[in-house]
Amino acid sequence: MRTKIIGTGSYAPDRVVTNNHLAEIVETSDEWIRTRTGIGQRHISDGPGTTAMAAEAARRAMDNAGVSPEDIDIIIVGTTTADHCFPSAACEVQGAIGAVHAVAYDISAACSGFIFSLNTADALMKTGAYRTGLVIGADNLSKIVDWTDRSTCVLFGDGAGAAVVKAYSETDDRSEGVMCMNMGSDGQKASVLECQSRTMENFLTKGQPKPGYITMEGQEVFKFAVKKVPECILKVLSDSGTDISEIRYFVLHQANYRICESISRRLKVSMDRIPMNIEEYGNTSGATIPVLLDELNRAGKLNPGDKLIMAGFGAGLTWGAVLIQW
Ligand code: ACO
Repeated sequence: MRTKIIGTGSYAPDRVVTNNHLAEIVETSDEWIRTRTGIGQRHISDGPGTTAMAAEAARRAMDNAGVSPEDIDIIIVGTTTADHCFPSAACEVQGAIGAVHAVAYDISAACSGFIFSLNTADALMKTGAYRTGLVIGADNLSKIVDWTDRSTCVLFGDGAGAAVVKAYSETDDRSEGVMCMNMGSDGQKASVLECQSRTMENFLTKGQPKPGYITMEGQEVFKFAVKKVPECILKVLSDSGTDISEIRYFVLHQANYRICESISRRLKVSMDRIPMNIEEYGNTSGATIPVLLDELNRAGKLNPGDKLIMAGFGAGLTWGAVLIQW
């Protein structure tokens, strides 16, 4: 079996918050944010949470793919900001879109969430157990950002992206779909990027539950990303016997423009093969890769036969890459 993406969709909240808006809240400037990160604005939700954003992205992806909710037999959502501890965002999406035949669950891999979810769907589809799936990356990070901390609050935005995936037997079409993937994690570096749970106290521990916010050692994350992302990209290339010149686009997690520039230098790949949309959305965590993929798809930039590598990295630490043929 081979897993092919047959439709994409995305959603970002209407409310746009520019760097200049943020400069009214914390001591920062448009110039500092743009030069350090490439971010010009972000979409921040003043209402819809992760489920609502994910469900809308899913509807748009199903429309793009020409499938109905009843066709979906598995939903995986990569998120670390589900609206509830339980049920999962995926179960809530299932309920919202009416995908009555689907099994649904979340994967927690932060900004690698979409890659981990896609790779998991691919592995399950290869067993023949599922035929048509929704793979979603969605995050509502604005709810877990400390809006008094200028070192983190300028980086993030809200959004969701979705892909409809379909299993094809090898004889139907040998040349399309997921070709090769890898994933990795390093829990010993967990503390460089984390968000404490809000409810880690009980009547025995006697502490007061405190709200948890994102904390980050920015330079450690930067160093990790520029090392691990090229490594996992080179691994999918060598594991699949693909030359880097065959790759049309590298669809990378949008955390920081300078991280992507550094990856481009390390791989000796020009930036016109590394599409970027961080200026508009900021870092939407699990959503960045599927939102970017959807934009490429809807702009008609993906042609049958194009080879793409999607690669993400994030808290955990986690990282992963997937090579697909469109
Ligand atoms: N505006 C103005 N000044 C700021 C801001 C801000 N928003 N944030 C920090 N500063 C100040 C700091 O206080 C510090 O001032 P000081 O020298 O007086 O102490 C100075 O700028 C430099 O701070 P650094 O943290 O050293 O800044 P750095 O050059 O490392 O840039 C950044 C910070 C942009 C976060 C960078 O480390 C980075 O890009 N790291 C990658 C991490 C990342 O992208 N994370 C995204 C989330 S993780 C993910 O998606 C996987």
